[in-house]
Amino acid sequence: MTVIKLVYEIDKQDFVKAGQASSEIKKVLKQLGVASEITRKVAIATYEAEMNIVIHSFGGYIEVIIGETGIKIMAKDRGPGIKDIELAMQEGYTTASDKVRELGFGAGMGLPNIKRCADEFQIKSILNKHTELDVFIRL
Ligand SMILES: Nc1ncnc2c1ncn2[C@@H]1O[C@H](COP(=O)(O)OP(=O)(O)OP(=O)(O)O)[C@@H](O)[C@H]1O
Ligand SMILES: [Mg+2]
Repeated sequence: MTVIKLVYEIDKQDFVKAGQASSEIKKVLKQLGVASEITRKVAIATYEAEMNIVIHSFGGYIEVIIGETGIKIMAKDRGPGIKDIELAMQEGYTTASDKVRELGFGAGMGLPNIKRCADEFQIKSILNKHTELDVFIRL
């Protein structure tokens, strides 16, 4: 069985590079001939996870493992963490600054969108330490 693993480092507050990792991931999946519906879900989930690392964390990385049964996405950062995960999962909830909202982010839709794309979804967070998102999308 061939397994492909992709890892991308994500820098905090870097709005120039932001979105590059997820578009690279999308390109690789297309090249591998992964179904467009699956590629679309992975692209949305990785984009939202990438932007959350850029906006809300001190920096981190995204790892994508393309396996036989599905695609596993892990997004891990160092940062403030999430105090109330249930609240953070609600549509429209955001702590984004005015500056970030002026850039067009901060609708509070990223995490709910990731969940919608996922067959398995888990957030683990330790306050003032890190946040880890684990997503599985079946092939
Ligand atoms: N990696 C993270 N580290 C710390 N807090 C986070 C992280 N990801 C999300 N959050 C918290 O959860 C909230 C909701 O996240 P979500 O992605 O749904 O919305 P948003 O990032 O605020 O806006 P949008 O994604 O629509 O641009 C964020 O405002 C932030 O408070
Ligand atoms: Mg977000």
